[in-house]
Amino acid sequence: MSKKLYICIFALLSLMACGAEQELKSIIPGEIWPDNNGEHINAHGGGFLVYNDTYYWFGEHKTAGKAGNRANVGVSCYSSKNLTDWTNEGIALRVVEDNPQHDITIGCVLERPKVIYNEKTGKFVMWFHLELKDQGYAAARTALAVADKVTGPYTFVKSLRPNAGQWPLNFTEEQKNATYDYSINRWNNEGRAAVINGMFVMRDFEGGQMSRDMTLFVDDDGKAYHIASAEDNGTIHIRELTDDYQDFTGRYVRVFPDKRNEAPAIFKHNNKYYMFSSGCTGWKPNPGRSAVADDIMGEWTELGNFCRGTDKEVKTTFGSQSTYVIPVIGEEGQFIYCGDRWRPNNAIDGRYIWLPITWEDEKPVVKWYSQWDLSFFEK
Ligand code: DGJ
Repeated sequence: MSKKLYICIFALLSLMACGAEQELKSIIPGEIWPDNNGEHINAHGGGFLVYNDTYYWFGEHKTAGKAGNRANVGVSCYSSKNLTDWTNEGIALRVVEDNPQHDITIGCVLERPKVIYNEKTGKFVMWFHLELKDQGYAAARTALAVADKVTGPYTFVKSLRPNAGQWPLNFTEEQKNATYDYSINRWNNEGRAAVINGMFVMRDFEGGQMSRDMTLFVDDDGKAYHIASAEDNGTIHIRELTDDYQDFTGRYVRVFPDKRNEAPAIFKHNNKYYMFSSGCTGWKPNPGRSAVADDIMGEWTELGNFCRGTDKEVKTTFGSQSTYVIPVIGEEGQFIYCGDRWRPNNAIDGRYIWLPITWEDEKPVVKWYSQWDLSFFEK
């Protein structure tokens, strides 16, 4: 080959490399994020599934105005290879329009859907938080929908309060035999002590435990867990799922009794489990929280606020609430914090706050970047 030809090929390859670099698009937290149709991505309280080297984003499809906080459409699905170009895959799970008695009838509250893939059954399994229509947040149920194809359609299977008639693994004999006056003021010292001791576990023992804000986590051994706010939002329950991921085994633990955590997100790094969560302030942001454990079923140790930055940023989690932590494909040990900036008065306008996770000693921390891209993880 002539020297000229070598130079041409080299120049061409360099140009291609430059082109590839330029294609790395920015993640701009809090801005409008257009999908392949130019419309703002509509997938709030989302969860992510990595399947066939592709990211699938499932989330609450919101509509305009305050009424848009309710489920008027269902669960959206988007796909992407690079976390910046998102293809709208349509509605993965649709609410039911012609049956007001259905658990997921139009106008119910359907929040924080998460999807996991079951290798044994070949099914895609979605769990989400469900509040029955016109009952506020009293039902506190979790619900299951299943599909043969990642993008759906998902078929609704059931909704329930988990672990009816089963005690948490970390409940003592004394706790199982305690008696309570349920009319007690749960906010005074006596009431709080009762809640910490498991008063609400006992109250809900027969009918099943409450289940509100939730996430799913699949461990390296294929076992899956359902992690949710229970006990009037006072305490997180970590629940083992059956091998097909479609039911609860009955093994569950109470974590952070009466610490009032919502919005749990779990990830695993260097054989340790990390949890991000928030406090309970409705749609308003509050300080982020983090915790670590050697075993997902506990003991969990609190690590404090995972945000670093100005006072306002740290007190409001950059104006967001956690929803998921994405493990970056091809970047072993690198993770992205995903949060929602809710817009309760115009739900469809909710924004996404995604930021890279870094480490401070052995603590995962998140700092604000008004614009960043995946080359962050190559530094
Ligand atoms: C906070 C929760 O994290 C959200 O998912 C939603 O349930 C709102 N509360 C409702 O106020």
